[in-house]
Amino acid sequence: MLVLGIETSCDETSVAILELVENLPPKIIAEEILSQTKIHIEYGGVVPELAAREHLTNLPFLWKSVLTKANCQIADLDLIAVTTTPGLKGCLLMGVGFAEGLSVATGVSLVGAHHIEGHILAAFLNNPDLKFPYLALVVSGGHTQIVNVQGVGEYQIIAETIDDAAGEAFDKSAHLLGFSYPGGPQLAALADSVASSSLSLPAIMKGKDNFSFSGLKTAVSLEIKKIAEDINNEGVQADLAHGIQKAINDHLLDKLQRAIKKTGINRVVVTGGVAANKSLRRRVGEIAEAYFPDILHSMDNAAMIALVAGWREMLKLKQLPANQVYPRKSIEELSL
Ligand code: KG4
Ligand code: ZN
Repeated sequence: MLVLGIETSCDETSVAILELVENLPPKIIAEEILSQTKIHIEYGGVVPELAAREHLTNLPFLWKSVLTKANCQIADLDLIAVTTTPGLKGCLLMGVGFAEGLSVATGVSLVGAHHIEGHILAAFLNNPDLKFPYLALVVSGGHTQIVNVQGVGEYQIIAETIDDAAGEAFDKSAHLLGFSYPGGPQLAALADSVASSSLSLPAIMKGKDNFSFSGLKTAVSLEIKKIAEDINNEGVQADLAHGIQKAINDHLLDKLQRAIKKTGINRVVVTGGVAANKSLRRRVGEIAEAYFPDILHSMDNAAMIALVAGWREMLKLKQLPANQVYPRKSIEELSL
C-alpha cells in the first residue's frame, strides 16, 4: 500500500510517500521536510499567520519533488493522510485544503491523522525490531506526555505537563541565556561542552506523576540575575546550561521512572524534537530498553503521518475525518 502523508501542523512543511506491506517494516519511498525556523527566528517564536502562508507556498513544490523522487504517478497512491490535530488552526487548514484538492482531483481516499499518534509510532520507521507494548515519552516544543502504548490505536496517557512543554523549558531558558529561537539545541550543545555544573535548581513536582516546567523558568531567571554581568562569560554560561539541561532531564527521568514502576513496562520510545537531546537519550538508555526515531523523524515529519493512517487502514481502525481540524484533541479519543 502506498500512502501519501502531509504534515503542516506547526512550522515544518512536510510531504512523504510511504510503502506499507503486511509483516514488513514501513519503507519511506520519498520525503521532503522544510523547516521554517529562519522565518520565525526574528520574532522569537512561531508566528501562526506567517507559518500558514509558508505552508501554502511550500506544499505544491514539495509535493512535486516527492512525486518525482518516488518515481510514481498520482494514480499509484492508495491513501492520502493529512494532520488534522493538534496544531495551529490556520496551518492545519493549509494542509487539509491541499490534501482535499489532491483527493478530489485523483479520487484517492483522504483521511485525517493525529500528530501525536504520529510521534508515538515514528520509531517504527527506523526500528524494525520495536514491539508493543511500550511507554512513549513524547517531548516536543508543544507537548510533554507519557503514553502507555499497547498497540496501534490503544493509548492511555500516564502523565502530561500541567503548563509548559519540555521543549518550551529548553527554549525559554535558552532565551534567558541570550540564544535565538529555538534555543534548545544551542543550550544542549553548550551544556554538553562541560562535564558538570555548580547550579542546583529545585526539584519540581516531587512525588507527583505529572510534569510542570513553568517554575523552572522562574528559577533560571533568578539564577541569571545573581550572576548579572558574568552572563556573557562562556564558562559561566556553560555551567548554567549544563545545570538547566540536567534539571529538565532529571524531571523527565523522574516521571518516566514513576510510569515504568506504575505500568511494569520497561520498553520506552522517546520521541518529539527534544528526543534529539543526547543527554536525555543516554539517560533513558540507562534505565529502560530504549528506542528512538532517527533525529530527522524525531521532529515533525509527514512519514509518521502516512504511517499512522496506513496502519489504521490496514487494521481497519476508525480514521479521523479529513474535513475538520481540531486545534486540540486528546490521543485517548482515538482509542479502540
Ligand atoms: O517536535 P518538534 O520539532 O516541534 C514541535 O514542537 O512540535 O520540537 C521542537 C522542540 C524545540 O523546543 C527545540 O528547542 C527542541 O525540540 N529541541 C531540543 C533539541 N533539539 C530540538 N531540545 C533539547 N535538546 C536538543 N538537542
Ligand atoms: Zn510535533
